[in-house]
Amino acid sequence: MKSNTEFNKEIDENVQGNATMVESNGTNGKKLYLESYGCQMNFADSEIVASIMSENGYNTTKDVDEADVILLNTCSIRENAEQRIRKRLTEFKKKKDSKSELKVGILGCMAERLKSQLLEEEKLVDLVVGPDAYRSLPSLVEETDGGQKAVNVLLSREETYADISPVRLDKNGVTSFISIMRGCDNMCSFCVVPFTRGRERSRDPETIVKEAQELFDKGYREVTLLGQNVDSYRWNVNSKKEIIDPAKPTVNFAQLLEKVALVNPDLRIRFSTSHPKDLTDEVAETMAKYENICNYIHLPVQSGNSDVLKRMNRGYTREWYLDRLKAIKDRIPDCAISTDIITGFCGETEEEHQDTVSLMKEVEYDYAYMFAYSERPKTLAERKFEDDVPEDVKKRRLTEVIELQQKSSLKNNKKYLNKVYKVLVEGKSRRSDEHMFGRNSQNAVFVFPKGDTKAGDYVNVKAHDCTAATLLAEIVD
Ligand code: 5AD
Ligand code: SF4
Repeated sequence: MKSNTEFNKEIDENVQGNATMVESNGTNGKKLYLESYGCQMNFADSEIVASIMSENGYNTTKDVDEADVILLNTCSIRENAEQRIRKRLTEFKKKKDSKSELKVGILGCMAERLKSQLLEEEKLVDLVVGPDAYRSLPSLVEETDGGQKAVNVLLSREETYADISPVRLDKNGVTSFISIMRGCDNMCSFCVVPFTRGRERSRDPETIVKEAQELFDKGYREVTLLGQNVDSYRWNVNSKKEIIDPAKPTVNFAQLLEKVALVNPDLRIRFSTSHPKDLTDEVAETMAKYENICNYIHLPVQSGNSDVLKRMNRGYTREWYLDRLKAIKDRIPDCAISTDIITGFCGETEEEHQDTVSLMKEVEYDYAYMFAYSERPKTLAERKFEDDVPEDVKKRRLTEVIELQQKSSLKNNKKYLNKVYKVLVEGKSRRSDEHMFGRNSQNAVFVFPKGDTKAGDYVNVKAHDCTAATLLAEIVD
């Protein structure tokens, strides 16, 4: 069995805290080095940043030593994410000390949370730019040329970067993200996101469909629609549910899913993140109706105990959550489910923790992202509750849920053995050049001998062996 750290590392490398360096083309001779941390939304935002900067002549580079500008797109979700970024900034500070014209900027959630404090107290950076201010990046970089510092952390109620064509970075040419909304209005008590990413706003569906079509035309075969809470996507409806422009149609998330699914039956659709309180039967029905909407849903539960969920301000109970899962499984019996779990939230008793364990045993998740609670400044939980579960107890509970999840993941993967699945080939396997990897609709990863397949093909495979993370398969006719 993998250790706790190994399992978390795998999670880290696969999705969560993955720092990525990226490359694109521009023309002013200046070079930009861009590093991204945190959620998929941040990676999608970096593609918008690269687009804005490349319009202004910047070439991106993967070699930090040849950069004129270094930008870090940062994450504040847990304290250790911020610590990691601070360490990185200290490394870049050393480069600045030996190359005075080098500019270092901080973008994203940490920029928004700490604002000019990053300039005043720590003098690590020249530039602080929040998630809604990326259009001003080129002029802000210019401002720093005379040695001044530049800040723009204004949050917006309208900005969705709808008209910007993201530069596809870090690309495999097959799978891509499309942001469909920004911000979050939920105020889960543990979460810093509503403070760093501002109010929720949805993007014009026509621009989303156009982006999906363009990706398909370029050879992409899978898009993941991104938002903090995709189920509350609403176009042309305000927060009081009133229609904004009567001449235009209103569009909810289920309708948006359908529009994107209709772009082409060979374009797979995934989406993240769903919120149990807002997930409608209509979404499950739309998923069932279209073969190219993948049978996979990420439905964060956070805790299996209704009192803890209340303290978390999640807006649902354990029973409600299980009812939403039933709504999905009734319509899509083979739908894979993944989740997020927090251990050791304020006041969590051993009994309450055991409710999370029992829920996990009941649901048998295909995958889970699991975290020890980390108190974040200004959140409702910080103001209202004491962070009173000792660190060692949080960690022990975390280890318990991780070990349980490994068993579920293995059990779920075993279900896929000796059956034929259509997978989308994403590229070469990390293990060997002679193997390719791809995912089935349920998001399970299959590795198989290359044959004459290439990235972007759909092939049928049958697995003969598996671990909790991967299925070993052969191509079948
Ligand atoms: N501490 C621990 N985990 C957190 N998450 C969000 N805020 C915190 C926090 N303060 C987790 C939640 C969320 C995921 C993206 O990160 O599980 O769904
Ligand atoms: Fe944070 Fe809750 Fe919004 Fe997700 S839904 S970003 S956990 S406040």
